[in-house]
Amino acid sequence: MQKYILTSLLALSAMLPNVNLAAEAPGHQGGEATESKAQHDARMAWWREAKFGLFIHWGVYSVPAGYYHDKPVPGIGEWIMNKGKIPMAEYQQFAKEFNPVKFNADDWVKAAKDAGMKYIVITSKHHDGFAMFETKASPWNIVQASPYGKDPLKDLAAACRKYGIKLGFYYSQAQDWNNGGAASGGKWDPAQQHDMDDYIDKVAVPQVKEICSNYGEFPAVIWWDTPHDMNPARAQRLYDAVHALRPNIILNNRLGGGFKGDTETPEQKIPAKGFPGRDWESCMTMNDTWGFKRDDQHWKSTETIIRNLCDIASKGGNYLLNVGPTSEGLIPQPSLDRLAEVGQWMQINGEAIYGSSATAFGDELGAAVKAKDGYGHDTMVSSANDWRCTTKPGKIYLLIFKWPTNGKFELAGLQSKVNQAYLLAGRKDLKVDQTDAGVTLSLPAEAPDKIASVVCLEIADSVAKVAKQP
Ligand code: GLC
Repeated sequence: MQKYILTSLLALSAMLPNVNLAAEAPGHQGGEATESKAQHDARMAWWREAKFGLFIHWGVYSVPAGYYHDKPVPGIGEWIMNKGKIPMAEYQQFAKEFNPVKFNADDWVKAAKDAGMKYIVITSKHHDGFAMFETKASPWNIVQASPYGKDPLKDLAAACRKYGIKLGFYYSQAQDWNNGGAASGGKWDPAQQHDMDDYIDKVAVPQVKEICSNYGEFPAVIWWDTPHDMNPARAQRLYDAVHALRPNIILNNRLGGGFKGDTETPEQKIPAKGFPGRDWESCMTMNDTWGFKRDDQHWKSTETIIRNLCDIASKGGNYLLNVGPTSEGLIPQPSLDRLAEVGQWMQINGEAIYGSSATAFGDELGAAVKAKDGYGHDTMVSSANDWRCTTKPGKIYLLIFKWPTNGKFELAGLQSKVNQAYLLAGRKDLKVDQTDAGVTLSLPAEAPDKIASVVCLEIADSVAKVAKQP
């Protein structure tokens, strides 16, 4: 197989057009296309409204599911070929066992929609180079190299269209351990030796064109990753390929080569203060792996997931929460259970999340303190976690985690007149006492929700006026 893959690449080279796209895109002189703030805001509008999405890591790595030669391989599941230093020929045998006959795109999209998610980003190709779509650029793909023989992205696009969910594609543009791309930590199999520019031009660029052309109005997002060995020229060729076909697409900040992209992507963490002035999206696993590992049952609680969503929204970010389906095509039940529970909360409280902006206060976050992210690396997080706040024109949402035992909620510094206050759960009005120092809300003894109860304040100003606390 491996010998076959690389030789056919050379054969293909003669067939593929070699067009410099830069010249095709009007008003685009190298780097990223220029746009006005109004154009940028219009392009980002759906994404800023959405706030909550499903990340799907699915591929051949779900077959070994964390095991190689009957031994568990440490680390995230989708990296098993690299962590296990598995030779290409051996790894490619796993594709013969990849036959997700239980895959049902409608079920996946319904689960996301019912969780309150508005977009999905699926791994069209991860670092192992296996294309989860039909492609002419490499035979290492689900249609040609697996018994499944079909393109699941087609079904997913149709289901997303049906349920009004935006679909985006994760694409590992630089690392490709079976098509001669880069390999973090260095290549471990001589068969991987290959010219990076040839890989970019014969595999990555053509495949990016395919995923930007073969799925109707999708993808709405391209999620690049780990830009090893990327340089401005390689990045430019990929950027131009996408931009020529999808000028309104949203691109994250991981293309490399100095390209900023549209969104910051903190991973397995929630930055203490978010990224003021930048669109950002915190991506996170529900257990400790992106790709399916059969032993990983270290699931986050629904409480943690909902409070993460509140925390991220209160700092102006989006939350991209991951599932890692099995090789049969099923989303693990613990993930489905949590999605359903989050959906119940969003049914009542989603108004405080969708299209919201960051907090009007800030002291509720506490000081930034050192902590460990999902990989055990140092990071800075918010030290206070009693409540969070999101805003909309004329509205302030208080997302209360720790319900006051004295039935009073103090909001120091709010200067804007509160016209009305109510719980989103049941829309019950609350008594408001307002002075120059701030507002005191009278709350019922019992919290409507043990995870996060939301109070909406309708205020006289479009943007809340808040006096800084000494
Ligand atoms: C990291 C991991 C990659 C994963 C991505 C998700 O880059 O290397 O496997 O897909 O994070 O954010």
